[in-house]
Order: sequence, then structure tokens, then C-alpha cells
Amino acid sequence: MAWAVFFSLLLTHSAGTGKSEMGTAHFLDGYPKARCLDGSPAVYYMSKGSGAGEKKYMIFHEGGGWCSHGLACYRRSNKRLGSSVNDSETMDMSVADHIKFSRNPQQNPLMYDWNHIFVRYCDGGFYAGDRAEPVTVFGKKLYSWGKHITEALFIDIAGLESSTDVVLGGCSAGAMHIYAHLDALKKLVPGNARVVGLADSGFFLDEEWITPRLNGAVYAHEGESLLPPQCLSDYAGRAGMCLLGPVAMKYLQTPIFALQSRFDGARHKNVPACTDDICTQAYITKFAASIASSFEKNKGGYFLDSCQHHCFYAQWQALPARPLDDISGLTPLQAFASWYGGGESQYSQAAVVECAECCNGTLPIQ
Ligand SMILES: *[C@@H]1O[C@H](CO)[C@@H](O)[C@H](O)[C@H]1NC(C)=O
Ligand SMILES: *[C@@H]1O[C@H](CO)[C@@H](O)[C@H](O)[C@H]1NC(C)=O
Repeated sequence: MAWAVFFSLLLTHSAGTGKSEMGTAHFLDGYPKARCLDGSPAVYYMSKGSGAGEKKYMIFHEGGGWCSHGLACYRRSNKRLGSSVNDSETMDMSVADHIKFSRNPQQNPLMYDWNHIFVRYCDGGFYAGDRAEPVTVFGKKLYSWGKHITEALFIDIAGLESSTDVVLGGCSAGAMHIYAHLDALKKLVPGNARVVGLADSGFFLDEEWITPRLNGAVYAHEGESLLPPQCLSDYAGRAGMCLLGPVAMKYLQTPIFALQSRFDGARHKNVPACTDDICTQAYITKFAASIASSFEKNKGGYFLDSCQHHCFYAQWQALPARPLDDISGLTPLQAFASWYGGGESQYSQAAVVECAECCNGTLPIQ
């Protein structure tokens, strides 16, 4: 009920929105080591906030897997996720694939008027690589300098030193970066802002399809230094474990809010053996229990839904953004706003997975 009041206040307050959502490119070419895999300058896009949102920042990290050996990194360096050569001067933030950039206060009640930043993922190593020298593959120099991109980013963003609120977000590999590195990132944010994480679709269990590949990625990029020191010592030689949600959450001090499907599309795609209902339901039960126990100790919160997806893409921009929490009827970003304001920390859509209606909003709210 309190929420409904808050909500109508927001709607009244927002009369006359319809601001541009065009983001402007900021190439980090003034920082010699802030380079993509192929050596091109790293880049982020920014759309300025307004009114009460002027001193608040949502810094969102693009996802897109990772590479962990020479050939894969070479291939990646010839594409968008390893290079900024084809990045244009502007980007429409509203189609940057996430409703988190929405300037509509009903869709995005917390952050609709904030500064929105979309960090392009071009290093291939979870924004954390710190290899001293480039590696030459097929005659091409490949750089693992993600950590330098991260450091340059927080220096470069205009006005960040006088910010009051900073949400560090990401999807998929961008969300794994947040789970694993949030405490280190918080130290890099200048000033005294309140800092929280917003991790979309980046919580993965320790399974054979993912963990060995993560170990490979951390060591290939020499990407240990943003990880919690205690995690590195507890998992010596297996630092990739520290990128997994259930492990990262054991060390994380900074509050984090998760948006997560019970049956993440990326996981499902990579584990084709788990196609029957018994296997699926067993996995879902295990997954939900892991999320619940992981978030017990952190002052965080989460929104768990039952549709099979990976990240919250733009097709869910239609109002109300879906799916909805069973009890409060809140959408994921409304739930995030409520949690941020001191509200409930656990939200869930508890339908049987895989629930097609959950994704398109036709499931009645109980
Ligand atoms: C850049 O665009 C050109 C032309 O479409 C394409 O051939 C090239 O592969 C692209 N490079 C990268 C790194 O995306
Ligand atoms: C939503 O999904 C269900 C199940 O696939 C389908 O029957 C229904 O037509 C869909 N509704 C809309 C509005 O897309």
C-alpha cells in the first residue's frame, strides 16, 4: 500500500519526461592501458541524469562470455566483444538491451532520472585482466588489460566524485564481474556515495560446464587482483571459483541485488543433458536453495523468476515490465527500487519452470 502511494507520487512527479536516451561515447584513449583485446581504446556510453538524479549513477557492464586461450581470444579480438573499432559516437540507450536504461519512472522507479552508463565489454576477461605484456597470436598483439579499463572508467566518469548513489550493474559476464569484484570496485568509486550492486543473470552454480572454463579465463588474463584476497587463498589454483555467485557471496560485503531466472537460459543451453522434467526440477530446487542461503549473510536482495531467459532484454519493455512478483505484484526493477528504499529483500515468481506465460505476463498474479 505504501508502495502504491510512492508510485503515484512518482507518476505525478514525472510529468513532462520524454528526454533523449541517446548515450554519448567516451573513448578511454587518454589512458594508455585502457585497451580492448585488440589494442583499441575501451569505451563507455553515457546518458546524463536530470533533476534529483543528477548526482546518481547507474554504471552497467555489458556481458558476453569470455575467452581463455590464444585462439579464442584472437577470434574475439576481431569482433565487437574484443574491439571498439566499430563503435559509433552515440548509442541509443533504450535499445542497449536492458530496461535498466528506461527513462520511464514506472518501469524504472529508482533510476529513471539517473546518469546512465553502459560500459562496453571488450577485454574478454571480466574487466579484470592485468597481464603485463600483450600476447602475440597469429602475428596480432592481444591485450589483457581489463583491470586498467576498470580503473580508468572510475576516473573518467564526469562528476562521479560528488555522486550520492552509485549502482554498479551488469548482465551475464558483466554480472559475474559484479559478484566477484564489487568490494574492490567500491574502493575505486571516488567520493562517499552509497554503492550497491545489481547483478542480472550472473549467478551460476559450481558445475563442470562452467568452472574449469572460468579457471582458464582468470589465469589466461592474470585477472586475480580484483578478487577478494581471502577467496584467492581459499581457492588457490582455482580462482575461477570466485566468479561463481555462491562462492563470491561468501566474501562480499557490499550489498547486492540479483535479478535471476531459476533456470537461466545460458546454463540450459550449455547443459543439454538436462532436458527432462525430473532433472530440471531437481536443478531448480538446488538453485533456489543456493540463492537463498547465499543472500542470507549479505544485506542484499533478489528477484527470482520462473521463465527461461538470460538477462532482461528489451522485449520486456512493454508495461508493466515482466515478470511480476507473486505477492507484491512488483516487476523486477520495481522490486529493486523497493529493496533500495528499505523494503523487502526477497521477491519471487514461484510458478513451475519452465513457464512460458511467466515471460509474457499472462500468468495471473495470486
Ligand atoms: C568492423 O566492421 C567491418 C565492416 O562491417 C567488419 O568487416 C569488421 O570485422 C568489424 N570489426 C570488428 C572488430 O568488429
Ligand atoms: C503467452 O504465452 C502463452 C503460452 O505460450 C501463450 O498461450 C499466450 O498466447 C502468450 N500470450 C501473449 C500475449 O503473447
